[in-house]
Amino acid sequence: MTTATDPKTPSPRVLYATLGMLLAMLLIGAGIFMWFGGNGSSGALGIGGPFTLQDGNGKPVTDRDFRGKYMLVYFGFTFCPDVCPTTLSAMADAMDKLGTAAGRVQLLFITVDPKRDTPSVVKQYAAAFGPRVQGLTGSEDEIARVAKEYRVYYAEHRTGPGPNDYSMDHSSVLYLMSPNGAFLAPVRADLPADEMAAALQKLMR
Ligand code: NI
Repeated sequence: MTTATDPKTPSPRVLYATLGMLLAMLLIGAGIFMWFGGNGSSGALGIGGPFTLQDGNGKPVTDRDFRGKYMLVYFGFTFCPDVCPTTLSAMADAMDKLGTAAGRVQLLFITVDPKRDTPSVVKQYAAAFGPRVQGLTGSEDEIARVAKEYRVYYAEHRTGPGPNDYSMDHSSVLYLMSPNGAFLAPVRADLPADEMAAALQKLMR
């Protein structure tokens, strides 16, 4: 198709391929945020939904128990060496920075490792990040269901031959849900507490 013969001039085909690759990289970079769509309208994408889980005392808890409050939901596991504790600390610190508005937010930590994260394990773990974090667990089916609703990726990854020799890969995103339970927006889990607080403040109107 092309008649360009100067080797220094990239052919249109090479240009298009390069542009295509750049575009793909941009899309991947914007990642989950593009996938979720923008604020407000993205509830239509159906992120989140009804769940029945167990609190730290093994008592059933449903999404309806949190109506009237924003839910800031994070999925992880208590054995997580790094990302989960950092995120939960930032969530708790962000609440401190929100001041009285923090009273309108319920922080939820939902485990993706229900085999090890029993109610008492989750309770003790959540308490380490202050009284505002509620830890939730459930049966493997219940966790699979809520993770699917929130489009959370998680997978067991073996680290040795023993039954407890495994870690969990998991996506790391905060989900801000409105006081009536609808998905409002994703919030980056790797934000420092002050930026997380500012992002939440903007979204909570
Ligand atoms: Ni983690």
